[in-house]
Amino acid sequence: MFKKILILLGSPKKNGNTAYLVKWFTQGARTKGARIEIINTSFLKYKSTGCNGCGACQKLDKYECVIKDQASQVLKKMALADVVVMATPLYFYSPSAQSKLVMDRMFCLYKYDDKTKATVSPLNGKTLILIASAFEDIGLDILKKTFAFIADYSDMKFKSLLIPNAGDSGNIKNNLSIRKKVVAFGKKTV
Ligand SMILES: Cc1cc2nc3c(=O)[nH]c(=O)nc-3n(C[C@H](O)[C@H](O)[C@H](O)COP(=O)(O)O)c2cc1C
Repeated sequence: MFKKILILLGSPKKNGNTAYLVKWFTQGARTKGARIEIINTSFLKYKSTGCNGCGACQKLDKYECVIKDQASQVLKKMALADVVVMATPLYFYSPSAQSKLVMDRMFCLYKYDDKTKATVSPLNGKTLILIASAFEDIGLDILKKTFAFIADYSDMKFKSLLIPNAGDSGNIKNNLSIRKKVVAFGKKTV
């Protein structure tokens, strides 16, 4: 069975470094027959600026956000994917705000089971992949740690591809060695 991969691209730059990293990853993953959907979280229509913390999702039987907008549709897709890829530029040593608009609303994908004392999620057993770049060669380790914690909390397998010294937005476009590395990563991770 071919894997279903959902890629959340969290850069507002349509031809930026993250867009190229996603394009190359996709080229690699497609050689393995993966079914891939790419959603740029920068251009979704949101009815809220992230998670409101209303807690209403925790009272539902299903794993859905009660704010009905394009992000809630993405969250449903996350629950159905085999692999979730989060691709983000490093912004102030963090994921971009565009990524966080969907990330924080992932709260609806978790429920605490009083009986087993465990957190249950449709994400359990799936794979989380972080693809990230930064101008400098510091900071991506912090980002990786954040996503590793998310994977651990979600009982997901975790992989990452980090590109430090990527320069300004769009600079990696003609970098053949990065391109090869990312295509190879796409091939081997799915
Ligand atoms: C708002 C903003 C914040 C940034 N913060 C950092 C940072 O903390 N560390 C760093 O090395 N690069 C930082 N950068 C540079 C980007 O992470 C880097 O150029 C990235 O490859 C851009 O990807 P993109 O073209 O997809 O936007 C920042 C860029 C912007 C626009």
